[in-house]
Amino acid sequence: MELNSYFRGLLSNIEPNQCDIDRAKQAHEDLRQLFLLDDEISKADPDSYLSGSYARDTALNHIKDVDIILLIALDYKSTEPEVVLAWVQAALQQYYSQKVIRQGRSVKVTTDNGFVLDVVPAVPLYHRDGPVWIPDRDVRQWVLTHPKGQIEFGVNKNKATQGYYKHLVKIMKHWRDRLPTEIERANSYIIESLVAKSLHWTPLSYGRGVVDIFHHIYSNYAAYLNLHTVPIIADPGYPSVNVAKRWKFEEFKAFIQATRSSLSIASSALADEEKEKSIMLWKKLFGEKFSPREE
Ligand SMILES: Nc1ncnc2c1ncn2[C@@H]1O[C@H](COP(=O)(O)OP(=O)(O)OP(=O)(O)O)[C@@H](O)[C@H]1O
Ligand SMILES: [Mg+2]
Repeated sequence: MELNSYFRGLLSNIEPNQCDIDRAKQAHEDLRQLFLLDDEISKADPDSYLSGSYARDTALNHIKDVDIILLIALDYKSTEPEVVLAWVQAALQQYYSQKVIRQGRSVKVTTDNGFVLDVVPAVPLYHRDGPVWIPDRDVRQWVLTHPKGQIEFGVNKNKATQGYYKHLVKIMKHWRDRLPTEIERANSYIIESLVAKSLHWTPLSYGRGVVDIFHHIYSNYAAYLNLHTVPIIADPGYPSVNVAKRWKFEEFKAFIQATRSSLSIASSALADEEKEKSIMLWKKLFGEKFSPREE
């Protein structure tokens, strides 16, 4: 059964509540203000905007982190990624009592009330609304990405599917979070990109959308298991980037195996006309949060 009221209930149980949203807003506004005030960063003509799942409205519950793009004027070709990340880290650690940590492509800031912000220094390729170069410490190179293109894609896809797209991204991220082993849990942006590629039109219901997504993933990518390779998955917001570039084969394999068994459960849940049995099957995928919305 489609059980729409249960899917709506699931969404209200996994979406961030107003308190999480207010906390995130305060944290990113405070930090973005510092870019303009800091002696060092302010010299680089800084500008910033939000990126990641928070900006695209695909974040879950407590909002794992808020991703912030920090645009700076810099001759990136003559600057090592490591140096820029260290420079941002040094500037920000003056203002936060908790550790400010340098990561592969960003600087992670934890606020006093435990909220996490990821600052990604970036240099525009052509102009401030277009693709940007970001530092990648691991490969010691600057790489291209297009956070605004990703946001725009999400807005358009959501309109084209009458709001189903963002909801189904959240539902699939919640499914991912409940997978029993870490190796199966594909990273959030891979999930989001796979949902983007699976949804060609407005699904008839959430339940059908979920089955369509599992079916699309399994039928398009299972063959790669025999080839022993991870497929290329173009970034929906910037197709020249392969979002699966860092996905290891064993992780991909475990994810496809999880998709196969979930496809079978979701298909049975949708087909079953006995309400209690259908609920029990959907709960195997989504847990106790799959409950009817209290109006
Ligand atoms: N493999 C990737 N390819 C391209 N861009 C990526 C990739 N992984 C992450 N990103 C970009 O970095 C952003 C932040 O990544 P992060 O891991 O925080 O995921 P997210 O989409 O914000 O989801 P959440 O934080 O809710 O788990 C992504 O939203 C996306 O814009
Ligand atoms: Mg994030």
